Amino acid sequence: MIVVETVVELRRRIRALRGLGKRIAFVPTMGNLHAGHLYLMQKAREYAEVVVASIYVNPLQFGENEDFDIYPRTPREDHAALEAEGVDLLFTPTDAEIYPRGREAQTRVEVPGLNNILCGAFRPGHFRGVATVVNRLFNLVNPDVAVFGKKDYQQLLVIRLMVADLGMPVEIVGAETVREPDGLAMSSRNHYLSAEERKIAPRLYATLCALRDQIAKHRKILPDLENKTLQDLEAAGFRPEYVSIRRQQDLEVPQQQDHRLVILAAAWLGRTRLIDNVELEIH
Ligand code: PAF
Repeated sequence: MIVVETVVELRRRIRALRGLGKRIAFVPTMGNLHAGHLYLMQKAREYAEVVVASIYVNPLQFGENEDFDIYPRTPREDHAALEAEGVDLLFTPTDAEIYPRGREAQTRVEVPGLNNILCGAFRPGHFRGVATVVNRLFNLVNPDVAVFGKKDYQQLLVIRLMVADLGMPVEIVGAETVREPDGLAMSSRNHYLSAEERKIAPRLYATLCALRDQIAKHRKILPDLENKTLQDLEAAGFRPEYVSIRRQQDLEVPQQQDHRLVILAAAWLGRTRLIDNVELEIH
């Protein structure tokens, strides 16, 4: 695996690969890699001969009181895991490489509509930070295809819409969420959970699955289902931010004719903010 830290070196390598006619798949990450990330690398390999990954903890997508400073950084383990996974090129830029004029001066990318709903309502500026860094990474790596996890469902849609709106020639692939045996979605933030909270955490997914089964059984969304689910989460020990049933393609509130739905939730367990979602189709 080749590791590059600068934009100049990255561009040189990408140009050489392009010169050889190679197709490039890209997986951006913030490091502290787990099996969920490695699955994204495997997915990427299905789409291209060359897999490029990046590790950059992007300050622009963290709010002032969020966990940027304590976000787990494990570069040595990450490099070894990516090497073992057969990743070809790893980009590990500094802030100065990503935001050369300083992060405050950086041109921002915003996807209206998706920006301020659901997680965006609770994390102002978060998706602007994500879209801004992914846009820059896409311009640097110039991939044919890029892979994102469905665990961050709203992020995946933000990227899809950004790519469509800006006419970027990148295919966006959504990869299924990888879960622990008890159902908890894998996340770097799971490290923050205490032993007691870790036992409760899988209830988030279980509660969303129960809601999915209710909707599937009645073949429609009965009133008050979301509120009932919020109460179930509170009873299990969470401080839920939202539970919401939306349509898959744009996360708008579903109308009668919408069949492809997704249930999304965010909930705090102690100092850890967990998100999860389940897709469903009703006919
Ligand atoms: O999902 C993540 O890890 C980050 O939001 C991403 C896409 C790497 C952008 O910083």
